[in-house]
Amino acid sequence: MILVTGGAGFIGSNFVIDWVAESNEPLINLDKLTYAGNLQNLAEIQDDSRHIFVQGDIGDKKLIAELLEQHKPRAVVNFAAESHVDRSITGPDDFIQTNIVGTFNLLEAVRAYWSALADREKADFRFLHVSTDEVYGSLKPDAPAFTENHPYEPNSPYSASKAASDHLVRAYHHTYGLPVLTTNCSNNYGPYHFPEKLIPLMIVNALAGRPLPVYGDGMQIRDWLFVKDHCSAIRRVLQAGKLGETYNVGGWNEKANIDIVRTVCRLLDEQKPRADGKSYSEQITYVTDRPGHDRRYAIDASKIERELGWKPAETFETGIRKTIDWYLTHGDWVANVQSGSYREWVETNYGNRK
Ligand SMILES: NC(=O)c1ccc[n+]([C@@H]2O[C@H](COP(=O)([O-])OP(=O)(O)OC[C@H]3O[C@@H](n4cnc5c(N)ncnc54)[C@H](O)[C@@H]3O)[C@@H](O)[C@H]2O)c1
Repeated sequence: MILVTGGAGFIGSNFVIDWVAESNEPLINLDKLTYAGNLQNLAEIQDDSRHIFVQGDIGDKKLIAELLEQHKPRAVVNFAAESHVDRSITGPDDFIQTNIVGTFNLLEAVRAYWSALADREKADFRFLHVSTDEVYGSLKPDAPAFTENHPYEPNSPYSASKAASDHLVRAYHHTYGLPVLTTNCSNNYGPYHFPEKLIPLMIVNALAGRPLPVYGDGMQIRDWLFVKDHCSAIRRVLQAGKLGETYNVGGWNEKANIDIVRTVCRLLDEQKPRADGKSYSEQITYVTDRPGHDRRYAIDASKIERELGWKPAETFETGIRKTIDWYLTHGDWVANVQSGSYREWVETNYGNRK
């Protein structure tokens, strides 16, 4: 049994679906169901007895202690976080509360549980913390990509709160010996991505005939990884990662935002041409840049390949095609997210469940 937190969000739900498909080991999925948590993402496994969903907060030490006591997991994988940089700029409080205080409370509950385990279980236990490349700050155009030794220089309230959580996780290993692992991943894309983030926002707006808002000059560079590849990296680190180590996870795919948007437009032109025959790229509009917007992130993912034999299965070209196909065939999911009716769906489907 493993305990996953934040498993109703974008990456967490992909992880949970893949876990159930690839393993017989049950999991408890603890998620607060903020605006970003959507149980509809997990509809395909809602009747699978290996998946136990619990609505709750990682900051609720009592609840976590009860879940650990009751289910005795051999590992905790922590996805739960506030994750949207723009929201962290307009309202940082939730980021401090969940990403820092929440992770701290989770660590405290896990430490108490782990300390009381028998020697064998104690040695086998793992706490895997899922983090981001944004903690490293912004790179100059010709600087080498981030390695695991790059200094932390977070620039947004989001990345600062994730950096703080990474430091807590590290300290719990150093001070208490808690068997931790941390992954720092680049930008993910793929199914179930909430349409406030760049790629799904562009797909959804393009299809709805709305403007495609590009921040500043659109030349902000990110590394992009298909979400299923991130999930396989996490499974691999959980299985074979060296205790106390951090692993950078990336797709070797540095791209400027404007190139991402143009690629999305090109593929939509191919797969769902506009009625007027013009390109979706006509909808691109440049808008005022995000304050403090980092110019470039790049991940050097050679450590995880060298030490654990992991590398991404998808190139950007194959991953983005799968993503666009998914959005074109899941209009209902998009409509429910946009109207907020996924919250009612949760009530209808889960209201009577324990
Ligand atoms: N999306 C990316 O590109 C990316 C890249 C690298 C790392 N990450 C990290 O991966 C993790 C998951 O990211 P995501 O994009 O899936 O985020 P998301 O916002 O889609 O999902 C976050 C999930 O956590 C839940 N949650 C929020 N606060 C909670 C709390 N206090 N207690 C319990 N659950 C809570 C939400 O309900 C939601 O289901 C985050 O830690 C994020 O920092 C994301």
